[in-house]
Amino acid sequence: MEFKLFPGGTISGEVRVPGDKSISHRAVMLSSIAEGESCIRGFLEGEDALATLAALRALGVEIAGPDRGELRVVGVGLAGLRAPSTELDMGNSGTSMRLLSGLLAGQPFASRLTGDASLCRRPMARVMQPLAQMGAHITAAEGDRPPLQIDAGGGLRGIHYPMPIASAQVKSCLLLAGLYAEGCTSVTEPAPTRDHTERMLRGFGYEVTRDNDVIQLRGGGRLTATDIDIPADISSAAFFIVAATIAPGSELLLTHVGVNPTRIGIISILTLMGADITLINERDVGGEPVADILVRHAPLRGIAIPEDQVPLAIDEFPVLFIAAACAEGRTTLSGAEELRVKESDRIASMAEGLSTLGIRNEPRPDGIVIEGGALDGGVIHTHHDHRIAMAFAVAALRAEREIYVTDCDTVATSFPGFDAMARGLGLQISTQAGQA
Ligand code: S3P
Repeated sequence: MEFKLFPGGTISGEVRVPGDKSISHRAVMLSSIAEGESCIRGFLEGEDALATLAALRALGVEIAGPDRGELRVVGVGLAGLRAPSTELDMGNSGTSMRLLSGLLAGQPFASRLTGDASLCRRPMARVMQPLAQMGAHITAAEGDRPPLQIDAGGGLRGIHYPMPIASAQVKSCLLLAGLYAEGCTSVTEPAPTRDHTERMLRGFGYEVTRDNDVIQLRGGGRLTATDIDIPADISSAAFFIVAATIAPGSELLLTHVGVNPTRIGIISILTLMGADITLINERDVGGEPVADILVRHAPLRGIAIPEDQVPLAIDEFPVLFIAAACAEGRTTLSGAEELRVKESDRIASMAEGLSTLGIRNEPRPDGIVIEGGALDGGVIHTHHDHRIAMAFAVAALRAEREIYVTDCDTVATSFPGFDAMARGLGLQISTQAGQA
């Protein structure tokens, strides 16, 4: 599937984007190992979260739905998962693979996790090494890439793990393994990362402590079923936040968006660039901060992106680079080498696409320098990366000619219905079958 975009347009209206992907994964995992029945609302029916759902079903959990974002999960308790009869396919989803590897490392049965071509290129040593320290037996393909083979072991023991990278996936993997480990499991974060796992564990009645940058839990407790209301995903809202910011005359209200402080780097960075973004009706929904976000068009200026914001905006850089292309002057990003191991090498994919549109840029090992300027049209290759596709769709609002974005099927991993919602808000987007 390809996107075809006519240049220009104004973004206006009120919309609720689909549910948060990170929270959707965790909701299914934790409700599955809780005791009792949990009802989940606002679940993201995207391929990534559905891969997690299918895996838990294959592990013997009874799950009804999704029906318009609603799931009913009959938790089996910490010890109730059953050996799967086939390998578990995580599709494109790094979160499914890394978090489930922690959950499965603690089971008394073997399992095998695989994924698509993109996922099978992504590094897994970051979870394999600490899990091995805990006593897990995990092997992978060459270069510590998936598929992962997790063999049944003789039980896990808690460790303290100072994380070399700021990764919520690694932290969450170890906390999930820690539920099954003897004694305490703790991790030190080199910088704050999304804390949905800790918040949700507490929501299920499991004690997790945080002492400065150390997060800790003790194995062997129990999770008690609870209901979960998943807010809209700020990482999906990000495309429309940038769209409304760069398109003259725009005014947009995004409702019920998760604004957890560990996720709002996109708002902080755009505000530093001069964006007009207001959070209204801030509230707490089941332990997660939620707000409506009002965005009006504003001229942007280039900035040096503060490095402490990088983990807090890690998934939003593709669309932030489009904002930088539309800004006056130079934007520099450093300390973001993690972008090179996402669904694609996002520094390389974005640099290539920006150059196609005539935007001067200089990719670096850990970031990029972007000179704002006029955007031309052209053909963009997404490298099968959903966020690259959506970022360049948004760029059309300021382009001088048509933009064609190839290989857009992966958009369904995180944002099913993106094109229809974008069209409703004013983007001149149509989809057509790709030329294979
Ligand atoms: C995620 C954490 C981030 C993010 C990913 C989702 C999560 O990855 O990029 O899309 O749900 O924990 P890292 O923690 O590896 O940076």
